[in-house]
Amino acid sequence: MRAVVYDRYGPPEVLRLEEVECPVPQDDEILVKVHATTVNRTDCGWRKAEPFFVRYFIGLRRPKRRILGMELAGVVEAVGPAVTEFEVGDEVFGVKGFGAHAEYTCIREQGAVARKPTGMSFDEAAAVCDGALIARSCLRNADLRPGRSILVYGASGSVGTAAVQLARDLGAEVTAVCDTKNLELVRSLGADHVVDYLQQDFTKNGETYDVVFDAVGKHSFRRSRRSLKPGGLFVDTDLGFMWHLPLVVLATRWIGDKKAVLGITKYTKADVLHLKELIEAGKYRAVIDRRFPLEDVVQATRYVETGQKTGNVVLTVAGGNGTGDAP
Ligand SMILES: NC(=O)c1ccc[n+]([C@@H]2O[C@H](COP(=O)([O-])OP(=O)(O)OC[C@H]3O[C@@H](n4cnc5c(N)ncnc54)[C@H](OP(=O)(O)O)[C@@H]3O)[C@@H](O)[C@H]2O)c1
Repeated sequence: MRAVVYDRYGPPEVLRLEEVECPVPQDDEILVKVHATTVNRTDCGWRKAEPFFVRYFIGLRRPKRRILGMELAGVVEAVGPAVTEFEVGDEVFGVKGFGAHAEYTCIREQGAVARKPTGMSFDEAAAVCDGALIARSCLRNADLRPGRSILVYGASGSVGTAAVQLARDLGAEVTAVCDTKNLELVRSLGADHVVDYLQQDFTKNGETYDVVFDAVGKHSFRRSRRSLKPGGLFVDTDLGFMWHLPLVVLATRWIGDKKAVLGITKYTKADVLHLKELIEAGKYRAVIDRRFPLEDVVQATRYVETGQKTGNVVLTVAGGNGTGDAP
């Protein structure tokens, strides 16, 4: 099969397309013929081995796993003997650690995978799990419900567009912060209020929120503190400048009534099933910026690393015509 491989850490150019052995499913795995996958920020982090400590998990000197790719949507091609939930021919979507930048990949039946939402294309289904499951994990203890308010900073990214939709579904009052070109998009995703960060600094407009969610790792507890209501929660997706956030999290446990939290993501089947329900109920949709064919993975990765993508960047694999919306 064709797969994107890399043998050393480095810039996007370390990625190349190669013929490799097709994986064989273990007893509890399904083999998926991948129709679409994505390039996301975690794929980029693994490829660059950034931050440095990730080498401890993925290989000290060189990558232990040669194929990146987390999100997938495709068709079940084979099942291991212990698999009971899926059958050959089922259309599925989900998210895993590695291996989806390929024509075929295996995923555990009990992993973060489910039948593809009815009426959703493979491209769209590939582009929903990572952002939504990160946002859902980060906001799990934020007690979002009617009467509570949240500000989503970086609302136009993969995690941000997901957070706006999930918070809206829970009934919270949502304020989305993004730049001018994405204001209409975030409104269409359900934001009650929008703030254009090029025109206005939300920390200086006098508004306060129960939750401030930094969905892009570019803000800080210190700067957002005055925008939090008493007892408010600041949630970040990132360790922050010089990895200061864990210290702030600890400090705010003891000092003051406003807390900081670092979101830790766990990809679970239950969350994928919840997402499928939301999609089928018309309460959640995929936000796709650009599509690239698998062979243009370097170009796709360079675009993701601009830090300016809106929502998600898809790689089309089986059935991709190589053009899509790519520039
Ligand atoms: N906690 C976890 O387990 C976990 C896992 C993976 C990733 N992450 C983190 O999740 C975060 C978000 O990832 P992502 O994939 O959603 O990011 P992304 O899609 O690459 O975010 C890009 C978007 O952020 C906006 N943006 C960039 N700089 C901004 C700024 N200074 N202020 C406001 N908006 C800004 C960009 O819009 P403009 O056009 O306005 O620039 C663009 O739409 C990252 O910090 C990543 O490290 C966390």
